[in-house]
Amino acid sequence: MPQPDSPSTLALSTDARSWWRTGVVYQVYPRSFQDTNGDGVGDLFGITARLDHLVALGVDAVWISPFYRSPMKDFGYDVSDYCDVDPVFGTLADFDTLLAAAHGKGLRVIVDWVPNHSSDQHPWFQASRSSRTDPRRDWYVWRDGRPDGSPPNNWLAVFGGPSWTFDPATSQYYLHSFLPEQPDLNWRNPHLRRAMLDTLRFWLERGVDGFRIDVAHVLMKDPELRDNPPASQGRAAFHKDMGAYGSQVHVHDRNHPDVHGVYREIRALLDSYSAAQPRTSVGEIHLFDLADWASFYGKDLDELHLPFNFSLLKVPWDAAAVRRAVDEIEAAVPPGAWPNWVLGNHDEPRIATRIGPAAARAAMLLLLTLRGTPTLYYGDELGMEDVPIPEALVQDPFGKRVPGRGLGRDPERTPMQWDAGPNAGFTDPGVTPWLPLAADAASRNVAVQQTRPESILALTGRLLAARRARPALHRGDYRPLGGAPAGVFSFYRSQGGERLLVLVNFRPAAVEVALPAGARSVVVSTHPAAALPAAGAPLLLRPDEAMVVELSAG
Ligand code: NOJ
Ligand code: CA
Repeated sequence: MPQPDSPSTLALSTDARSWWRTGVVYQVYPRSFQDTNGDGVGDLFGITARLDHLVALGVDAVWISPFYRSPMKDFGYDVSDYCDVDPVFGTLADFDTLLAAAHGKGLRVIVDWVPNHSSDQHPWFQASRSSRTDPRRDWYVWRDGRPDGSPPNNWLAVFGGPSWTFDPATSQYYLHSFLPEQPDLNWRNPHLRRAMLDTLRFWLERGVDGFRIDVAHVLMKDPELRDNPPASQGRAAFHKDMGAYGSQVHVHDRNHPDVHGVYREIRALLDSYSAAQPRTSVGEIHLFDLADWASFYGKDLDELHLPFNFSLLKVPWDAAAVRRAVDEIEAAVPPGAWPNWVLGNHDEPRIATRIGPAAARAAMLLLLTLRGTPTLYYGDELGMEDVPIPEALVQDPFGKRVPGRGLGRDPERTPMQWDAGPNAGFTDPGVTPWLPLAADAASRNVAVQQTRPESILALTGRLLAARRARPALHRGDYRPLGGAPAGVFSFYRSQGGERLLVLVNFRPAAVEVALPAGARSVVVSTHPAAALPAAGAPLLLRPDEAMVVELSAG
């Protein structure tokens, strides 16, 4: 196995060192990408078999949601062995094959890491719950109930109900921020801490390029376990209705300042493995106070490389609102740190459903032209939409436990649509996929869109190619343009002598835009045959049109 890097291997170019800044990440939800053994569930071989799609598209890295051993109560976010592959996805050897194949094609691999909680079937929890004196008791958070027998405090689980479950075997409650089957690990225990860092070493030594860290801000809680205060009305703490969970201000059950010490330690570990192969960390941080969010870069930029920025999930598709969100993030990112953007993931409604298929093309252009690392969710390059899931087929525990609020995440997790054949090429003919395919899979799929220059797949490919070719897009400055007409968000990207103007029409109506002097040519547009008007004439942006214009060097 490769060893941590020696100083003699320090000769990487700046570009290679900062691939996580200049590159584009593609998220694969492994259950839904490609099944190769006919069980209706995607697997690691399936990802390996489809790597050429990512290469053809032009992304730089793939983030794979969890494939560890798991009872699948939360589809892999309940891990029973951090250092093995669940048989439904394959074997460790299959992972090694995938990693080598990806590296052979110039793709980096980011794996998910779930440090806040394990599965209740993890041997650590089995030991911990076995007796109050077990050496692993303190690897989880155990407390007596209140004198009346109720849970130790008022904390609520994200997936509904109290975040404490009583365990009769030892007559104490254990903490779980999510499902009862996902007990929270106690990061204040040094032995647990060491054991979890060892799981990172395990994957670093196998050669992964980085980690996506699940609910990174939740790891550390108030050591006194104080009650959360009630949320005041109208307090927009979340990007969506979270049911009863939204009735509290979550000041004590997550984001304790001690969490930063954990990330400094993790960053030092990643850095120690980064001389020849730069490793990265992307943290899932659902904090919408931007100072809190930005604190995860670290005071000395010594924590996460990229705390996920979910602000585009929160804003309506409106030019002024999106511009404000972008400018707020730009202002919040500490000097020297790098932004990042997402439009969706396995927990959120699909962008094409949220804002409509025409606007989704403009959103793709926005995602791939803002300053910062974009993460693309699988299927968004096809304009895949949420698939309505009949009650009897619902899989997601969030949807089952908090019904009636549209919180179920199955609609955005349906199988990838590869071709017009049976099961859209996702699994063998005659097999029932674990979630139903979209009704439009026969027409909306990779094979069909590859042949159509006007498809969103082709557009995404053109955007990724332009982004790769132009330093202004992959590493340039960002400057918003004042005076754009209502409904249009426009900004400059520049690097060295290269100057680009991005124009996004957020409305389904045409609009005239005055172009700055020096507009030379259209680099890429959401619409076919876009061209610039004669010098001095206004540009007519078509309904939902977005484009990148090259300007002469300023
Ligand atoms: C965030 C993950 O993205 C989500 O899918 C999961 O259910 C929770 N964390 C719990 O691990
Ligand atoms: Ca399979």
